[in-house]
Parts: sequence; structure tokens; C-alpha cells
Amino acid sequence: MKKYKIAVIAGDGIGPEVINEGIRVLKHVSELDGGFEFEFTQFPWGCEYYLNTGKMMPDDAIETLKKYDAIYLGAVGAPGVPDHISLWDLLLKIRHEFDQYVNVRPVKLLNGAPCPLKDKSPADIDMVVIRENSEGEYAGVGEWQNKGQPDELVLQTGVFSRKGTERIIRYAFELAKKDNKTVTSISKGNALNYSMVFWDGVFAEVAKEYPDVKTASYLVDAAAMFFVKDPARFQVVVTSNLFGDIITDLGAAISGGMGLAAGANLNPERKFPSMFEPIHGSAPDIAGKQIANPLASIWSASQMLDFFGYENWGARLIDAIEELLTEGETLTPDLGGNSSTSELGNAIIEILDRQEANF
Ligand code: NAD
Ligand code: IPM
Ligand code: MN
Repeated sequence: MKKYKIAVIAGDGIGPEVINEGIRVLKHVSELDGGFEFEFTQFPWGCEYYLNTGKMMPDDAIETLKKYDAIYLGAVGAPGVPDHISLWDLLLKIRHEFDQYVNVRPVKLLNGAPCPLKDKSPADIDMVVIRENSEGEYAGVGEWQNKGQPDELVLQTGVFSRKGTERIIRYAFELAKKDNKTVTSISKGNALNYSMVFWDGVFAEVAKEYPDVKTASYLVDAAAMFFVKDPARFQVVVTSNLFGDIITDLGAAISGGMGLAAGANLNPERKFPSMFEPIHGSAPDIAGKQIANPLASIWSASQMLDFFGYENWGARLIDAIEELLTEGETLTPDLGGNSSTSELGNAIIEILDRQEANF
């Protein structure tokens, strides 16, 4: 039987609560299928580990993780540890070291999910944001001069390489070509006169290789406006690291909230493990109460199944989430209900069983 070794970094805050449900669901899927299994190994890395050891992960963490088929991550960040340390030494380090340059973030309004936009239905909100995940504004290049002095100065430099820019844009075009979708680039060439002028140029060049794919290009401020006013105009969206970060929280807001937004950090060449996670953070405001919504984690488990080639199971998990939302009986407070995190996990498992019985 095919076995997948999954490294689990549940992390901080609600991370362990939501990731537990994802693990239960993945185990259940493998039992229903019978043709593959998962072996989960938990790594206790994160802010508590940092407070005990002075490190977010051990020095050999990257070597250790290399042996796994995928990483399943909860969330990182806790009051008491500076965010730039906790995130740079764990989440961003893994994305960078494993060259997970594609961040796939679906923005899809499922039937039954709450939508704050007037007159918008699932047909209007069905896109996928392809976020550059390895460089750009997140390159970590900069300088801090004369700290605390009147002439203090900081530089945070965006790094846009030809290789990095081309490969993410090409990934978006390949996806659009396969699914017969349009590609929209989101940039900011009017103000960012080096990086985004370059980005727009590369987008135009790559577009020429795909004459059958329809394209659009928006400035990020206008794109943010259209996400709210007319989200139907977006199908495959490609954008830089920081714009992708911001625009996908907006995407979450219009498609059911942070509790429903998933992301896959992919190394498409499969030279290194890819990482699957909800896009939300550790939500310290609700941590430890068993009220966090685990559906984003479960959705990212569906992305993992897709990545391993079990697209049928990936789709069935999304169907199960949709069924849970339309039934409307087992919902966490963010979705207007009063069920617990694990009650949602149970409900998804029951729906999968019911689907199975109907096959
Ligand atoms: P957040 O996503 O943790 O929370 C924003 C709001 O959304 C909060 O009100 C929270 O309660 C709510 N929320 C988030 N996920 C939810 C869920 N599954 N169910 C119900 N409600 C949910 O963002 P933040 O408050 O800006 O950040 C908190 C910490 O998490 C910070 O340390 C930040 O750096 C970190 N962070 C980590 C990741 C990650 O590990 N991938 C992502 C974003 C933020
Ligand atoms: C995300 C998060 C991270 C990011 C943070 C925690 C560094 O917000 O995955 O969306 O900005 O990429
Ligand atoms: Mn984010």
C-alpha cells in the first residue's frame, strides 16, 4: 500500500485545534479508500518551543523535514514572541528553503457559506490566486541604519528575479490553459517603478506564449475594489508575494471568512516537500476554546490530496464541506453556529461516510 509520510507542525494558538481535525479527516479518507495511508509525525515546533529553547525549530529542522512527502501546518505566532522572529524562523524559512514558490489560494464561495456582499452567489466568486511565494517583497533584504537615532533609516528591498517572476506567471498560465480560464495579473506599475514595471513586462512576454488564454491586468488598488464590487471578473489571478497575502485575506472575507480559506505552498518540481496550511493565523483571541473553524485546514488537506494525485478525494472533501455548510446544523461561531471545532470534524467524517454509502 502506498504510504505518505506527513510532517505535522501544528504550531501555536488554534493551530493544533484545527490541524487535529484535518488529520482525523485525512486518516478517514485513507481508510475509506483502502489504497493509500498516511503516517503523521508531529513536531512540537513553534512559539512555546522558542520560549523553552530560544529557537523556533532545531538547527537540523530543514534536513529533518526533507524526508517527508508533505508538511501539514497549523499556524504560527503568539503574543510574547515577536512575529518577525516566529514567522521568519519557521513558516517563511520553510517556504524559502524548500523553494515553495507557488502559493495556491482558492477564493471560492461554496454553497451555504456566508457572503457579506449583496447579491453575490457562488457563481460570482470562483477564482484561484497564484501568489508568488519565494521572493518579491518577502525577500528579507534590507538594512537598519542608525537605530534609535534622529537619522534612523530602514530599507526593505523587494527582489524580483527574472526566473522567479517568469516561473510564477507561467504557472498561472499553465493552470488557466488546462482549465480554460482567464489570467489576471495584479501589480502596481504606476508607483513601483522598478519591480512592478518589470512584472508587467514579464507578464506581457509570457502571455504571448499563450495566445489562447485571455488576460487582464489591474493595479492592486483597483483589484481590491473589484474583489468587492465585481469578483466574477477574476478566474486565475497571479500576483506578488505581499499583494497576494493581502488580497487573499480580502478573498477570504468575501468567501466565508478566515475559517474557510486554505493555501498550498508548492514546490511544483517536487524536489522538496510542499506545505499545506490554512491561511489564517494562530488567532490568539479564540485559542484554546475549541471554537476555531477547522474547515480551512480540512480544505488544505483537500489540496494535499490533489497534489498526491487523488483529485477525486480532494473534490469529495470540498463536497463534504459544502454539504456541511448547506445543512447549516453544525457550524462554529464564525459561521453563525455554536458547534465546537471537533464537532465540525465529526460532521465532515459522517458526511464522507454518507457519501460512501451512496456510491
Ligand atoms: P488571524 O488570522 O490569526 O486572526 C484574524 C481574525 O480571524 C481573528 O479575529 C481570529 O479569531 C479570526 N480567525 C482566524 N482563523 C479563524 C478560524 N479558523 N476560525 C474562526 N475564526 C478565525 O490573524 P492575526 O490576528 O492578524 O494574527 C495572529 C497571529 O498569527 C500573529 O502572530 C500573526 O503573525 C500570525 N499569523 C500566522 C499565520 C500562519 O502561521 N500561517 C498566518 C497569519 C497570521
Ligand atoms: C499568510 C501569513 C504569512 C504571510 C505571515 C504569517 C508571514 O499572513 O500565510 O498569509 O504573510 O505570508
Ligand atoms: Mn496572510
